[in-house]
Amino acid sequence: MKKIAVLTSGGDAPGMNAAIRAVVRAAIYNGVEVVGIPRGFSGVMRGDTIAMNLGSVADIIQRGGTILYTARSEEFKTREGQEQGAQALRQAGVDGLVVVGGDGSFHGAQVLDRLGVATIGVPGTIDNDIPCTDETIGFDTAVQTAVEAIDKIRDTATSHERTFVVEVMGRHAGDLALTVGLAGGAESILIPEIPFQLEDVIAKLERGVARGKRHSIIVVAEGAGSGIEIGKYLQHHTGFDVRVTVLGHIQRGGPPTARDRMLASQLGSHAVALLLAGEHGKMVGVEHGQLHAVDFDTVFATPRTPDQELFDLADKLSI
Ligand code: F6P
Repeated sequence: MKKIAVLTSGGDAPGMNAAIRAVVRAAIYNGVEVVGIPRGFSGVMRGDTIAMNLGSVADIIQRGGTILYTARSEEFKTREGQEQGAQALRQAGVDGLVVVGGDGSFHGAQVLDRLGVATIGVPGTIDNDIPCTDETIGFDTAVQTAVEAIDKIRDTATSHERTFVVEVMGRHAGDLALTVGLAGGAESILIPEIPFQLEDVIAKLERGVARGKRHSIIVVAEGAGSGIEIGKYLQHHTGFDVRVTVLGHIQRGGPPTARDRMLASQLGSHAVALLLAGEHGKMVGVEHGQLHAVDFDTVFATPRTPDQELFDLADKLSI
């Protein structure tokens, strides 16, 4: 292997820069040339590459976002686009590729791998919705950001004796809402994977009021419903003073936590080690503290379910 490329794709996540740094430095450490591809698979199709050296990734381990930019490319989903991309990589002399992104990005990564460009995926998304790894890069930071926001909301909720609905990200996955809800002491947590009735949320709110509770926080994953609509419903059916906060993209930014920087450093470096060992068509992950690699097909076929025990615990502790 002579030249490795690295790209970031899909929604950005804090720690992606630390992953880029790890790939670049691990490649150079092993005497391999390394380039960055800007704007994910759109950049692949255009044959864009940026030469990377040790200094290109200096001072980025602590920065959120991605210095390589990111994109969701519709064109790359077509067979023509994919062949054009593989061809462009070959022309640029790239024989190994590291894709940092989520599930959608790994489908693109697998296609390129099958078209002859040895590819390894590194899981990076705040959603934590990738199977075969305990955690994805960016999740820990997003949890921290959202919990800090909830702590602040709790102050004003207490002062005004209000009910707050806090909408967090997670179009298809409730991991963020569940973790944030448990760590933030929410009364109810609504996630897309576990069916719920707003009547049960109301009953819980009313039980709380009956025992003297004056404020409540309900955490909603965006995929479970609109926080604004849920807030209106609750206000209408309880008469309580309800406010809604949609945390939105604030959850995607900010300096990565130490844990995300560590994870990104380990996974990025492991991805390079695998390519150099001749392995490809896999995602790197960490399970029970151990780095490992899993075929993309296995990743795609493994169901990803939220932690029911954590969900039950949050429910139990918020009676
Ligand atoms: O996949 C990460 C994520 O932040 C989701 O939680 C969210 O639904 C989505 O991306 C929003 O994406 P964008 O702002 O890029 O449209």
